[in-house]
Amino acid sequence: MKQHRSRQSGGRTGNLDTVFSHSVRAALRSRRRIWKTATLAAAFSVFALYLAWLEAYDAQPHHNDESPLAEAVAQGAASAGRAAGPGPDLVKRGAYLARAGDCVACHTSDKGRPFAGGRALSTPFGTIYTPNITPDPDTGIGRWTDTDFMHAMHEGIGKEGERLYPAFPYVEYTKVTDQDVQAIRAYLNTVVPVHYTPPSNNLSFPFNQRWLMFFWNLFNFDEGRFVPEPKQSAEWNRGAYLVEGLAHCGECHTPRNFTQGLKTNEPFSGAIQAGWHAYNITPHRTSGIGKWTDQDVIGYLSTGVAHGRANAAGPMAEVVEDSTQYLNREDLRSIATYLRSLEPIDRGEARPRTEWGAPASDVVAWRGTRIDGVNGGQLFVANCASCHHWTGEGIGASAPGASAPGAYPSLIHNSVSGASDANNLAMVILHGVSRTTKDADVLMPAFGRELNDEQVAAVTNYVTKQFGNPQSTVSAEQVGRLRATAQ
Ligand code: HEC
Ligand code: HEC
Ligand code: HEC
Repeated sequence: MKQHRSRQSGGRTGNLDTVFSHSVRAALRSRRRIWKTATLAAAFSVFALYLAWLEAYDAQPHHNDESPLAEAVAQGAASAGRAAGPGPDLVKRGAYLARAGDCVACHTSDKGRPFAGGRALSTPFGTIYTPNITPDPDTGIGRWTDTDFMHAMHEGIGKEGERLYPAFPYVEYTKVTDQDVQAIRAYLNTVVPVHYTPPSNNLSFPFNQRWLMFFWNLFNFDEGRFVPEPKQSAEWNRGAYLVEGLAHCGECHTPRNFTQGLKTNEPFSGAIQAGWHAYNITPHRTSGIGKWTDQDVIGYLSTGVAHGRANAAGPMAEVVEDSTQYLNREDLRSIATYLRSLEPIDRGEARPRTEWGAPASDVVAWRGTRIDGVNGGQLFVANCASCHHWTGEGIGASAPGASAPGAYPSLIHNSVSGASDANNLAMVILHGVSRTTKDADVLMPAFGRELNDEQVAAVTNYVTKQFGNPQSTVSAEQVGRLRATAQ
């Protein structure tokens, strides 16, 4: 059966050479250069206009008004039937919401000092280090007013009025209600203040110019709070609020345009993030997760395992570990309900990721044979079979017939072996799996040191051919690139 590669992976596997002739490419390049110059010129003239406008209007910037927040607190308090002020309930709610928003994941580099920042986020434009958001007055946000904090979350504007980079997901946080932002702030005020200044960003010109975010925002940012859809249920609206807003699932799962803004017309249809493929999670029945039950989604988000379908590794393991495992049943159910209602987006995949593969039966044939060069099957038996079984069916709970939460999953009918590209499989082999939740400490060792690029490619290609989607292959060169991708 012919299998169409998704647009996502097609662009990254280097097949373009066969599609475009040299002359077409050259013509495109020079067109692009002219276009770039024109855009830059336009950008600078708009910037000049913007400066003039600022001169005229913005003598009094936005930090002078505490009223929206006071109002929010009053509203929150009124609805809860108690006096205004950051009581223990507000702080508790804030702690829950901060988890839903996964603030700790980005704002922590050393688990011993949560929220103190310093985590390096690699972007196509260079490295950004997250700021310290503990209440330390000198190096954190202890001197920020609640309004400053609100402006950061809702508008992507820092304390001095500077524009923040969208590596901070304010594109989604802008949807979070005033009350919820207030609760998050109340909680952050209670975390241990850490005196620590993160390294400064390492961005190349012109991306080190914060004002340029003005243009980025023009194209990619709609400021405004979540507006409930009255025709939909409360559950659906809660799911939309979380998925589109606080939980910012689209930051990884929605493909990006050339300015790195989210492609809002293809939401949640899958994207590559730091080498990992954050899969299509629209309800398309072959390209997405249309065949997952709500219980599969809920189980995956709360434990990192959807039995017989998928396991969360890499960035998604972190999301489960730091964020979604803490969400309550109702919120998880709301997320599942909302995901199911999304427009299904077709990426041309021939079969669902979770419906590929068959157990291996060829291992016996190799007994006593000499190892010639790099053989993926032999590498699999030597490195992987002790846990995943030589048949690939896994050992323990997720093996066929077992029902308890399982240690060593089957590689057959597994979304990573059945995906339309082998990125995540190679990444799992290079980096292993590490996921700590309230249910389990899940650990698969990393093979990045033991196996070289050629060996990782060979075992990856064996796994996809035998247990997964045989059209998904990687070369040693591609493994090298994945290995070099900053995590
Ligand atoms: C995906 C990563 C990521 C997540 C998740 C994230 N942040 Fe940030 N945040 C950043 C980055 C990067 C910056 C710095 C942006 C810049 O330098 O322009 C930042 C900046 C900030 C700032 C401005 C601080 C300053 O000193 O300028 C605040 C406040 C903030 N984040 C709060 C939060 C809160 C609250 C949450 C959770 C609801 C959160 N962040 C979640 C990446 C993240
Ligand atoms: C930091 C990036 C990131 C964020 C944020 C994120 N995801 Fe993911 N997600 C991934 C990656 C990467 C994978 C693939 C994981 C793997 O292969 O083990 C994934 C996998 C999944 C899968 C399994 C798909 C499959 O076919 O195996 C589901 C379901 C999912 N994510 C839902 C969500 C939801 C819902 C949210 C928001 C609450 C979310 N994700 C937020 C990166 C992310
Ligand atoms: C020591 C035991 C062990 C060994 C050896 C091992 N694994 Fe794993 N593997 C695990 C565990 C544990 C998980 C995670 C299960 C979970 O997420 O609940 C896992 C998960 C996986 C997954 C699913 C990842 C995802 O994101 O869905 C794949 C694919 C995989 N392993 C392939 C391999 C390959 C290929 C090798 C050999 C190079 C290998 N494993 C070696 C224990 C092991």
